[in-house]
Amino acid sequence: MSRIVYVNGNYVPEEEAKISIFDRAFLFADGIYEVTAVIDGKLVDYEPHMERLHRSLRELDMAQPITDADLREMHEQLVERNNISQGLIYMQITRGVAERDFSYPEDAAQTLIAFTQVKDLVDPPAAKTGISIITIPDIRWKRRDIKTTGMLAQAMGKQAAKEAGVGDAWMVEDGYVTEGTSNTAFIVLDENRLITRPLSNSILAGITRRTILKLAETGEITVEERPFTVEEAKSASEAFLTSASTFVMPIVEIDGEMIGGGQPGPVTRKLRGMYLEEAKNA
Ligand code: PDD
Repeated sequence: MSRIVYVNGNYVPEEEAKISIFDRAFLFADGIYEVTAVIDGKLVDYEPHMERLHRSLRELDMAQPITDADLREMHEQLVERNNISQGLIYMQITRGVAERDFSYPEDAAQTLIAFTQVKDLVDPPAAKTGISIITIPDIRWKRRDIKTTGMLAQAMGKQAAKEAGVGDAWMVEDGYVTEGTSNTAFIVLDENRLITRPLSNSILAGITRRTILKLAETGEITVEERPFTVEEAKSASEAFLTSASTFVMPIVEIDGEMIGGGQPGPVTRKLRGMYLEEAKNA
């Protein structure tokens, strides 16, 4: 059965959804997006996702095509019309359709699309076993804090991971881990010190990261926001990644070297449990 998707104010079967070849997101990746998780039919961390959306729009001088209330209605309608219990909502705003010209058009009609993806977020098998990752050079542009649709470097990274037979890749710049291809990188040192890179233009400000840092405090886990090296990660007692599409995913191997005995560690399991609890009770 086909999904009902949203295109510029209309809910249509996915086969009928069409946008112009002149859309600037298609030609220049001149668009921004958000991915929000759904659990038990409810949106997880919706407000902070919208705050980040506002920021991405501001940083790119891009207008918001519909109001916040209408954006929320769109998300809720998609959950309802597709009967989503667990999964994701992807939404994208573009600068719109205009003759191909690099500078911004004066008054292009913007494009807004959104669709659902069914996904087992609560109990995926990988959350029990953990995943292996590789490290790769971070070849991206310098405004990674903006959630643009320009994700080719990440697609190349995911493909490299797939070809290496592992679950994902962490990107490295000047010897330090920036982030995962589509997630935030965390390590645990000395059993109870949680390390993650501080926010800057070098990484996306993960919404899951934000919640995890709050939960770590509640769970009496020490947090250090600082860059860490690949060597530190490899000698860490635990490693994990976070995102709206994985929540907290344990990492048990980096570049073929086993982390923490090759099993998801206690801090990772604790934080995943706390996150699920919080998400379900939201
Ligand atoms: N990606 N870093 C990058 C580069 C990302 O693309 C993402 C999310 C994150 C984690 O952010 P959050 O916790 O807000 O999901 C970090 C989404 C899930 C995606 O592109 O599918």
